[in-house]
Amino acid sequence: MEKAIIAPQIPVRRRNREHPFLRAALALGLLVACGYAGIFTIFQPNKNTLVKVPVNAQHILHKCASLNVVPGPPSNFHSREESDRYVAGTKATLIKNATIWTGNVDGLEVVLGDLLLDKGIIKAVGRVSTEELSAYQELTIILAHGAWVSPGIVDLHSHLGDSASPFLQGASDTNSVKGLVQPWLRSLDALNTHDDAYRLSISGGVTTSVVLPGSANAIGGQAFVIKLRPTEERTPSSMLLEPPFTFNGSGIIEVQPPRWRLLKRVVRLYDELQTLRSNFITPLRVIGENPSRVYSGTRMDTIWAYRQGYEEARKLKVKQDDYCAKAVAGKWNEVDEKFPDDLKWEALVDVLRGKVKIQNHCYEAVDLDGIVRLTNEFKFSSVSFSLSPFYWTADFARIVSKVAAFHHAHETFLVPDLLKKAYGHTPAVALFATNARYKREAYRGSEFAPRILADQGIQVVMKSDHPVLNSRYLLHEAQQAHYYGLDSNLALASVTSTPAKIMGQDHRIGFIRKGYDADVVIWDSHPLALGATPKQVFIDGVAQLEHPYTIAKPSAFQHVPKTPGFKEEREAALEYDGLPPLGPKKSFPGIVMFKNIGSLFLDKGHGIEQIFSPWTENNDSSDAIAPQIAVVENGKIVCIGSTSEECSSSAYLKAHIVDLDGGSLAPGLLSYGSSLGLVHISGERSTQDGTVPDGLTGKVPAILGGDLEAVIRASDGLLFSSRDALLAYRSGVTTGVTAPDSRGLLAGIGTAFSTGAAHKLVQGAVVQNEAALHVALSLSSSVSVSTQMAALRNLLLGGAKGDLGAQVTKVVEGKIPLVISVHNADIMASLVRLKEEVESVYKSKIQVTFAGATEAHLLAKEIGDSGIGVIVSPARPFPDDWERKRILPGPPLTQDSAITTLLAHNVTVGVGIVEAWAARNTRLDIGWAALESDGKISKAEAIALASSNLAKLLGLPSDTTSTLVATTGGTILDFESKVVGIVSAQRGVVDLF
Ligand SMILES: *[C@@H]1O[C@H](CO)[C@@H](O)[C@H](O)[C@H]1NC(C)=O
Ligand SMILES: *[C@@H]1O[C@H](CO)[C@@H](O)[C@H](O)[C@H]1NC(C)=O
Repeated sequence: MEKAIIAPQIPVRRRNREHPFLRAALALGLLVACGYAGIFTIFQPNKNTLVKVPVNAQHILHKCASLNVVPGPPSNFHSREESDRYVAGTKATLIKNATIWTGNVDGLEVVLGDLLLDKGIIKAVGRVSTEELSAYQELTIILAHGAWVSPGIVDLHSHLGDSASPFLQGASDTNSVKGLVQPWLRSLDALNTHDDAYRLSISGGVTTSVVLPGSANAIGGQAFVIKLRPTEERTPSSMLLEPPFTFNGSGIIEVQPPRWRLLKRVVRLYDELQTLRSNFITPLRVIGENPSRVYSGTRMDTIWAYRQGYEEARKLKVKQDDYCAKAVAGKWNEVDEKFPDDLKWEALVDVLRGKVKIQNHCYEAVDLDGIVRLTNEFKFSSVSFSLSPFYWTADFARIVSKVAAFHHAHETFLVPDLLKKAYGHTPAVALFATNARYKREAYRGSEFAPRILADQGIQVVMKSDHPVLNSRYLLHEAQQAHYYGLDSNLALASVTSTPAKIMGQDHRIGFIRKGYDADVVIWDSHPLALGATPKQVFIDGVAQLEHPYTIAKPSAFQHVPKTPGFKEEREAALEYDGLPPLGPKKSFPGIVMFKNIGSLFLDKGHGIEQIFSPWTENNDSSDAIAPQIAVVENGKIVCIGSTSEECSSSAYLKAHIVDLDGGSLAPGLLSYGSSLGLVHISGERSTQDGTVPDGLTGKVPAILGGDLEAVIRASDGLLFSSRDALLAYRSGVTTGVTAPDSRGLLAGIGTAFSTGAAHKLVQGAVVQNEAALHVALSLSSSVSVSTQMAALRNLLLGGAKGDLGAQVTKVVEGKIPLVISVHNADIMASLVRLKEEVESVYKSKIQVTFAGATEAHLLAKEIGDSGIGVIVSPARPFPDDWERKRILPGPPLTQDSAITTLLAHNVTVGVGIVEAWAARNTRLDIGWAALESDGKISKAEAIALASSNLAKLLGLPSDTTSTLVATTGGTILDFESKVVGIVSAQRGVVDLF
């Protein structure tokens, strides 16, 4: 459409009161962009000036006109009949009789009816007229039978495609090591289309993600929005949703309003990569030779780097505005032919022009304050620097501050008023639900933050930071936020409509509305119920699940879960500045009577049994009875009865009474797999026991006896009262089992401790001082697997001496288990053979447990036959790296999970965790495993996965499971329940929360 103007010297006669821009525009036959109405009389042009008009004047004027146009869809967007992402040939789909959460009316609207999808968009919601339907010759009809339907899940913070799964060094592209402020980098340039996680995240209902650069830089670069479905083109670019016009180079003539741009910024104290190092098992995840040289810097350096960057941008913007003021005034003599621009800084100039939604990684009050100051110093989105008022657009009032959201933002709930002082508007907050304390910045993180922020009128988004959390389960973050108090409408919005708004795509995604993208999910339960799983996922109207495996969920799961209410806890989180006391409110050494017990689970020595369950209309099982009473003395049950007469000993009259309101008593859970009990803050070296020396890859000091004699005991390094341990205790995880923290082959002797104990010398604090011997074999080690295997063989067949030799003897005599951390099926197969070899040499049976064991399902039969037990951790698998690639994902992708497959082969199965913060969620992990087993795992078996089975697999005494957990609102497995007390036989007390 551009035409060169062939008159280098056009004499322009100027009349009074005629605006120069208008004249220039008219003279050049240019269609002027919107927004200049009403300001034509400000300049008083000189009369009768001869002006030299450059050939590209039209281009320049157009560029000037578009500089401050507010991004967004073209005004006729909503009259579209077909999506720009429509895949030709996709059949129209009618979803009949659905319960549709639309996102409208603040997330409160639910429509019962039908949904028509065609041409990549939603054609009708609720009632679809017969005329409209009669137009279709071919229509796929889905009978939803009242199933819940929601918009596709939207992830505001992901590294999907940039941070590769499985991790391969050649495909991990999240951080640049070349500088602190690099607004010119683009996550799109690193987007890997072959990531295993696309399909997995879609199977969790995720349809759209913002792919952000990593967090090692202060300004890490530009983020891009993608839809997760495979495209015919198979290219990164074809996955983009409404990319800004500038994504392929600047200087494109913008015929429509521009699209929103996204920028990733980080304020952080220290080398982020150090955290990565300590959080991940394999140091190979770190790229670059000496990152600290690039990343060294404090908060003060970071903020200065910002100010420098923005000052560059500000100067450039002033130059541009000055230039345009002259060009528009027709003062062509005073400007160069070239519009002042700079590819390096144009993204930051766009920030100052209000065209970029900044996604600011920022945790603590100190950093939030720094950023709020920065927004006010540089007036992001403001045009007040502009020398010319001509560049105000009619839409000026719509321009919002460009810190769109603070991400991670663990301390935002403590400083809502600060957030409200950000220039222009209050940023949203994008949070994890319960993932916290992994570094100092996250130490004060609270599960109550979403509710507290929402109460302050601040928009809440739940995000995955995939692969930090597997975005397949992003909805679970919203479920937890709701459990801890966020209203259900806001919780659902936090992963759909709210992130869509914050990324500037709410004109087409995040809602179920006529004309919106046909990104919808049909769920097997209410989306906020634990374990909600898609029955089908549509992206751009294309069904994504080929043969979904669907479970019929109980009717109770079709409603919004009732949450316990955590008012007191929420208030304490604020009162104590994010660090509320976590111990019990009271510890009763005497007699406590629990009444109104709906169900009781006990370990009578052969694993967990359900002693009774509540009698209801729907539960006529043989163990169903009316609510019971249990009397506890010295931490042990002394009487169970249905009325108080049955437990009427006069001694019980003084009992403290606890009403469980139909809840349950069940054995306390165990947690294994993380460094729980050895660490307060994993990112801070001085808060943890540390890593043991490894004989294979380093040197074991002679003072320890050297490689063949040293054995490290986790019990020597126990650190009590970590917040993760206390939170685990409050959530029914009463025992932590931990091995020494190792990156190599030999970890040492594991220990079991009470998560609620104040220190090691308290009675019952150490449950078992020495338990199993722990080793690890991995493809990610710096020595070969065959070398690791040879070393293990050497140790087991007599190579070990002294202290280590004595422990190995216990292993080969079958007295303590050998717990082997291993994920890869081929390594497990070699270990099955090694076990046979060792057993034939010693003529004894050895106890072996595989831990981690992501690929164990591939050898379920052989593992079962060899009598090896398996601890699956995490409970729901993810292909983090090559040795974990072959996962069994479970519904809706497969009927079976690793857990059900192993159980079917009579393997003793436990479930573990990977990071310490996750210990508190154990009860949900096992509840979820039972749910998705579709009846194959009973409640008692589910509890066994994290109690009696784990105890057996880790070499703990059978009375480990004698601690009981009291819950209200359901059993320990139920999402709606709450732990109210712990009955400790070891300590002879009842702790009440
Ligand atoms: C919708 O589905 C529910 C649940 O299956 C059923 O009870 C109801 O009759 C259905 N309504 C219509 C209009 O088909
Ligand atoms: C598992 O054990 C049960 C009961 O002992 C037995 O009937 C079944 O055949 C075993 N299954 C496998 C796969 O070994």
